[in-house]
Amino acid sequence: MEYPIIRYQPGDLPRLTAFLNNSWQYDSINETILQEKLEGDPYWMPEATFVCKDGDEIIGFMQGVMRDIRGTRYAYIKLMAVDATYRRQGIASAMFEKLEAIFKQHEADVMRIYDVPLNYFMPGIDPRYTPALCWAMRKGFERFGDTSNLLVDLNQDWDMSAKETALKEDNIEVRRAKPEDKQAILDFIKDEWLLWSNEVEMAFKDKQPSIHIALLNGEVKAFSAHNANNKGTGWFGPMGTHPDLRGKGMGAILLKRCLQDMKEMGLSHSIIPWVGPIDFYSWHSNAVVDRVFWRYEKKLK
Ligand SMILES: CC(C)(COP(=O)(O)OP(=O)(O)OC[C@H]1O[C@@H](n2cnc3c(N)ncnc32)[C@H](O)[C@@H]1OP(=O)(O)O)[C@@H](O)C(=O)NCCC(=O)NCCS
Repeated sequence: MEYPIIRYQPGDLPRLTAFLNNSWQYDSINETILQEKLEGDPYWMPEATFVCKDGDEIIGFMQGVMRDIRGTRYAYIKLMAVDATYRRQGIASAMFEKLEAIFKQHEADVMRIYDVPLNYFMPGIDPRYTPALCWAMRKGFERFGDTSNLLVDLNQDWDMSAKETALKEDNIEVRRAKPEDKQAILDFIKDEWLLWSNEVEMAFKDKQPSIHIALLNGEVKAFSAHNANNKGTGWFGPMGTHPDLRGKGMGAILLKRCLQDMKEMGLSHSIIPWVGPIDFYSWHSNAVVDRVFWRYEKKLK
């Protein structure tokens, strides 16, 4: 039997949230975070966001988005699921066919699954979703790497005030960013870390910005952010330090400031996603590898 595949409509949000929570064994999402992944994506493609329905019931979902990164046109399956009772009937394949046609029209070079920079839910496929791995291989994707999310127990002492006071002797000031610092931070990241601009904007949406900075002679030279993706879940990052300030312990100070914020928000744990320097986080925060993700790619050209 063929089920219609139609464009997602904003009115689908509550039912789509319930559907995803039913279909995903290892993840849960709420309406706010799902909306952040959908319309909240700065390159939201409603024409590439599909639901499959049986009558009024959502039985399948697939969202596509694209990013231009240093001259390569990346296309992504950002989220996907098929209801457990409707699997192995070609529903994900039918949605994928539509998505792939759109991506080819947009001259995408390569497709990936889930690991969408600057606004994403999880940075790849958790291999415990074994049907998803099998499906990806069948659709012509190849595994090219893996990554992990670390977990930090926030019930630790994150105070670094003595170190921060000592740094003042070198004309280095560390503090929470104020709304009027936003442009200076965006300017600071624009050469090396342009992709992080959206996350900086997101961190500034909180009542008190979820972002901390280090200034050398009044100029922003390092920053760390949290609550910039998957808001409310204890999501850390991004963070970056200019070479002028490296080797001064700045990363640890800025990391711990964010962890302290999350502790004060009443969270028990923080997630350090899509890592990266495991040793750095493990050393400074006792972070442990929590979830592992495999990354898949399919060349379209
Ligand atoms: C992954 C998922 C979306 C696939 O949906 P689906 O509609 O069942 O997939 P299709 O029917 O299009 O499958 C196409 C092919 O993929 C492969 N495949 C799919 N599921 C498989 C499984 N459980 N085991 C082995 N191969 C599988 C098969 O080759 C299949 O073709 P076949 O049935 O003719 O042999 C679905 O299993 C799902 O929703 N899983 C849970 C959510 C999830 O994992 N989301 C992604 C998280 S990263």
